Amino acid sequence: MPSTAVIRTFIREITTRERSPRCTEPDLVMDDPEKVAAYIKAGLEDGVMAPVYLYHCAQICEVIRAGDHVIDLGCGPATQLAMVARLNPDTRFTGVDLSDDMLNQARQHCADMGLENVDFVQQDVSDLAHFAPDSVDAVMSTVALHHLPDLSTLNATFSEVARVLKPGGGLYLLDFGHLKSEKSIETFAYQYADRQSELFTLDYLYSLRAAFSRNEFEQLTQRHLQGRAQVYSTFGMPFMMAVKSPARGGEPDARVLHELQRIKEALPAHHQTDLADLTTFFRLGGLRATLLQ
Ligand SMILES: C[S@@+](CC[C@H](N)C(=O)[O-])C[C@H]1O[C@@H](n2cnc3c(N)ncnc32)[C@H](O)[C@@H]1O
Repeated sequence: MPSTAVIRTFIREITTRERSPRCTEPDLVMDDPEKVAAYIKAGLEDGVMAPVYLYHCAQICEVIRAGDHVIDLGCGPATQLAMVARLNPDTRFTGVDLSDDMLNQARQHCADMGLENVDFVQQDVSDLAHFAPDSVDAVMSTVALHHLPDLSTLNATFSEVARVLKPGGGLYLLDFGHLKSEKSIETFAYQYADRQSELFTLDYLYSLRAAFSRNEFEQLTQRHLQGRAQVYSTFGMPFMMAVKSPARGGEPDARVLHELQRIKEALPAHHQTDLADLTTFFRLGGLRATLLQ
């Protein structure tokens, strides 16, 4: 059951006339070591991001197949990427990021996990010159696109995704959506302030303020990815939004299902509640998480 604060935010978002402006992230590329450390901590198994990573991991597993080459745009410390790569050992992954510090952390994290199916490229996601046209089987990205400075760079990124992705390829681009009211943004940002570092709370606040709108995602999807993917968001308030292609592959892999279930059951109760809320809000917005039953 969503908390009273979330229910109030929901009502505010569907009734308000406010239109909070987009404020560009203060750290476009994340290379401040203290902020990188706070971000990594939030992504650990007991960190506030754990249920979110599990949800997106299940969604990404739907759009990739064994033998694929998958790129992760704005991979950061590879917490999400490593989780997906561990469950898909026969898929090859390339993490793309501009930050030296993030890439070093990402390499270390994957080495610590013994992953041999991940490599990294230092590149701007809005100019994927390293990748040839129609060369990758799937593109994933989680909570990174709001770091782009403006709509024209987001447009270039969508255009690059369309260029490098093979016809029929898999896609899962997930990011925060822009909420209408500043109060809603603050409610979400400070919701777990007692469970996370102040640096992470501020990072989260700036991220929500920098989020693009659902409308902007829809226009760019229509312009560059029409017929290849659809935009979904959490119901009523687009706190999170995803550009997702249809699922690829046949029957879900029993080992993946089992492992997702195991990770879910190992989450503490408050994280299981967060996961259930996220699943419900996305399901009501039209996006099912078929691998997370
Ligand atoms: C909030 S982190 C997300 C990390 C990861 N995807 C996750 O889910 O935890 C955003 C990442 O995007 C990277 N980034 C920002 N702008 C970028 C750009 N133009 N090209 C490549 N990476 C970029 C930042 O350096 C940072 O590592």
